[in-house]
Amino acid sequence: MAEKSSETLMEKIVSLCKRRGFVFPSSEIYGGFAATYDFGPLGFLLKKNIEKVWRRWNVEGREDMVEIEGAIFMHPRVWEASGHVGGFADLLVEDLVTHKRYRADHVIEDAKIMDNAGALKAEEADTIIKDNKLKSPDGNPLSPAKRFNLLVKTHLGPIEDDTTVVYLKGESCQNIYVDWKPVLESTHRKLPFGIAQIGKAFRNEITVKNFIFRTREFEQMDIQYFCRPEEADQWYEYWKKNRQDFYTEAMGFSPARVKWRQHDPDERAFYAKDAWDVQYQFGEIGFQEIEGVHHRGNYDLTQHQKFSGTDLSYFDEATGERFLPYIVECSGGFNRLFLATLFEFYREDGDRKMLSFPPKLAPYKAAVFPLLKNKPELVEKAKNVYENLRKKYMIAWDDRGNIGKRYYAQDEIGTPYCITIDFDTLEHGDVTVRDRDTAKQERVKIEDLEKFIAEKLE
Ligand code: GAP
Repeated sequence: MAEKSSETLMEKIVSLCKRRGFVFPSSEIYGGFAATYDFGPLGFLLKKNIEKVWRRWNVEGREDMVEIEGAIFMHPRVWEASGHVGGFADLLVEDLVTHKRYRADHVIEDAKIMDNAGALKAEEADTIIKDNKLKSPDGNPLSPAKRFNLLVKTHLGPIEDDTTVVYLKGESCQNIYVDWKPVLESTHRKLPFGIAQIGKAFRNEITVKNFIFRTREFEQMDIQYFCRPEEADQWYEYWKKNRQDFYTEAMGFSPARVKWRQHDPDERAFYAKDAWDVQYQFGEIGFQEIEGVHHRGNYDLTQHQKFSGTDLSYFDEATGERFLPYIVECSGGFNRLFLATLFEFYREDGDRKMLSFPPKLAPYKAAVFPLLKNKPELVEKAKNVYENLRKKYMIAWDDRGNIGKRYYAQDEIGTPYCITIDFDTLEHGDVTVRDRDTAKQERVKIEDLEKFIAEKLE
């Protein structure tokens, strides 16, 4: 009987990711670097497939959406206008013995004193920490809370002084706001319409934890939907429903693992009318935010219009009105979506580990094996099948060990179909196709294989 593992689901996923090349700690030969990660060959393929599903659902499948890809460096005034230079800060407390630093809200939440401590002021956090005699995770006293700005700063150009300070994007969506006018003018769009972007964001997070869940460099998948002010409530409700459907229908997540949490009024930005988090149930770490849906009003365009001095208003030809549109924002974290996909489709059956990805997400759509690698006629036929399918799809080749081991190896990386070329193939021109989830085997004619895969991808 298989020994019962005491590993958490997160530990199993981290280990699978490393073993099979989904995600590696970055710069590992130097001991790794502050919770930065690289996507390995399989992670890269999974990433591209997730992006494809996101893009199909949010951009290609709609006529009211365009997508851009903005630069990482932006004019420093962007971050003053957005409020990040002045106010993008978390409360930090320091262990007075080890000098390790922690987020005050996390210390309070981890002690189960309250659920969402993110909106506390420094004095409020200090009072809670003092009244409840909270200590650092190492059991030491904590310093008073102070604000710590999360923007990552650097210098551009040959001089390092105050005039050359630039910031890496604290949130990816700022490109969309500053590009709103050129997108409007170049595409001749009418309201309502959205601008989507998958882009990098950088935050000097005080604590980074839970593998790729909270990192200092990550990607955001944004939709900023521009509409008439009086229609914003209706579009806000529309997008909330759309996001639920994206996770459960497009990504195939179980509805029981997707939950919504409304922000308390004091948690929201002062300009936001409403804000909800979409949460996913990440095993032992519980329900955690994967996306924010925000009713932003016209704050972003107002600020950029003021700071840039450029007119960002929309002219409605039908009514003759000129106004700043309202924005409904859906901002998801790519790393969190990737991690949720692994949690959602991870299965175990005794020693067998499996990623039960839908074919559209699977890194390889099928694997091709010759039954025996020392029979040239089988290898030649199998190579032929492999090369043909490879013209259209990502297909794996495996001729190591016995068939059972190859099935296990493909199950672990989520390959939905294994195609074996055996002696009957040489005689009848058909192959055995084994289904990862049911382990059922069927014979399929070689000339029907491409259609077989195409149908599963629909
Ligand atoms: N423009 C809105 C915005 O940036 P946010 O709630 O700060 O809102 C949106 O971020 C999403 O970005 C979050 O729901 C989360 O999925 C992801 N995210 C935020 N900080 C992150 C971090 N340090 N590591 C990984 N993902 C993060």
